Amino acid sequence: MDIQNAKKEDAKYLAFLINLAGEGIPHYLWSGMTRSGETPSDIGIQRAGREDGGFSYTNARVVKEGADVVGMLLSYRLDDPYIIDNLDDIPEVVRPLVVLESKAPGTWYVNAVATLASHRGQGIATGLLKDAEAKAIVHGVTRMSLIVASENQLARGLYLGLGYETRETLPVVDYPGCLHGGSWELMVKELSAA
Ligand SMILES: CC(C)(COP(=O)(O)OP(=O)(O)OC[C@H]1O[C@@H](n2cnc3c(N)ncnc32)[C@H](O)[C@@H]1OP(=O)(O)O)[C@@H](O)C(=O)NCCC(=O)NCCS
Repeated sequence: MDIQNAKKEDAKYLAFLINLAGEGIPHYLWSGMTRSGETPSDIGIQRAGREDGGFSYTNARVVKEGADVVGMLLSYRLDDPYIIDNLDDIPEVVRPLVVLESKAPGTWYVNAVATLASHRGQGIATGLLKDAEAKAIVHGVTRMSLIVASENQLARGLYLGLGYETRETLPVVDYPGCLHGGSWELMVKELSAA
């Protein structure tokens, strides 16, 4: 499988896929940031095309078919210490996710992984997750983390199969377009640096 660094011109695919991975929360947040004539997707594309911030194409690895991105994983090291300045300044739907992130300081965090529906079941996400582990090791990090909705059975099963274990949970805060209720689960995996 050819896994490569994302390019700035992949931003439109990244915005679409991160919204899939984020269960519609990104779209909901972007819809609150639009100015006249802009759509939520426009905001997502602008943000994916930035050089900095977690949701930047510079943190994404992709699988392509021609020029089309068919699978994407966004990962980076979480701050250590992970300090939350003021939880009240963070949109309510995101708060449980930020609190869970703060419980895994210094880990290599898989912020998002998604495969186009037409390309699922071919090992793309599995390949991207293994690639992220290799990237973590290169950066000297031996602990992976991610957050999944407890009701997202397919993704959760994939992570369990790869050796991730649930460490903490917090209830999902409802939002328009919310796909899954239940809890957000912080999952962690220890890597062997050998
Ligand atoms: C979860 C997701 C990323 C998996 O992507 P994928 O590229 O299909 O994953 P893989 O091909 O590596 O398969 C993972 C497992 O799911 C099974 N599977 C996944 N999608 C399938 C499909 N459409 N049909 C059949 N099986 C599927 C595979 O058989 C595999 O199981 P196995 O390891 O026991 O063989 C993908 O379903 C997706 O993008 N979902 C929406 C976004 C999302 O929920 N992201 C995760 C948020 S935490």
